Amino acid sequence: MDDLKTETKRPSIEEILEEAKKRLAAEAADYTIRPATREDIKSVIEINMVSLPEHYPDEFFYELYEHYGKAFYVAVDPSGRVVGYIMNRVEWKPGFFRHFIIRSGHVVSIAVLKEHRGKSLGFALMAHGIHSMKNNYKCEETYLEVRVSNQPAINLYRKLGYEVVKVARGYYLDGEDAYVMARPL
Ligand SMILES: CC(C)(COP(=O)(O)OP(=O)(O)OC[C@H]1O[C@@H](n2cnc3c(N)ncnc32)[C@H](O)[C@@H]1OP(=O)(O)O)[C@@H](O)C(=O)NCCC(=O)NCCS
Repeated sequence: MDDLKTETKRPSIEEILEEAKKRLAAEAADYTIRPATREDIKSVIEINMVSLPEHYPDEFFYELYEHYGKAFYVAVDPSGRVVGYIMNRVEWKPGFFRHFIIRSGHVVSIAVLKEHRGKSLGFALMAHGIHSMKNNYKCEETYLEVRVSNQPAINLYRKLGYEVVKVARGYYLDGEDAYVMARPL
């Protein structure tokens, strides 16, 4: 099982970032992906509220911003409005691909407002987030949870080289299962 995992051909993080830039130039040339500022967090919370059933106390967003701000990105539309975000956390945990305790980049939440989807903003947010987890925070792996019914997000993560490593039964408040997906960095 371990051998199969390490032999899987995945795009490198550099290749992913390059592809994100190309995709943005072709599909969302007037949008910007940039590190979040403290002033963006209110918009991030609003986007989370309308995009996902998983909400958090406001302090949680600010805490992730304070601790892991270099891996907290926003997408901004041509009018300057924040329309998407990714927030991450760095954790010491047993690796899925390497044994013993490693630094892993946990994708805690990502969302793009409905009317701005399908322009590669989700891909680009993920690309910047995982590039930062690898380079700024020296993470060796990245992982996330996703609803088993969330096909758009599952497709996105597969495209980025994540694979399902576990099913977390009844992970969500409404009882839905989660796939735990991970990739080495
Ligand atoms: C998941 C989400 C962030 C994707 O953002 P997006 O900007 O629309 O995605 P992109 O345009 O970058 O798409 C990248 C890839 O994701 C997959 N994808 C995105 N939308 C899809 C859809 N509606 N159906 C199937 N696959 C889809 C495709 O593989 C796509 O690659 P392609 O363009 O080559 O086909 C967005 O749908 C969203 O915010 N959903 C609600 C919040 C959510 O579910 N977050 C994830 C929680 S784990």
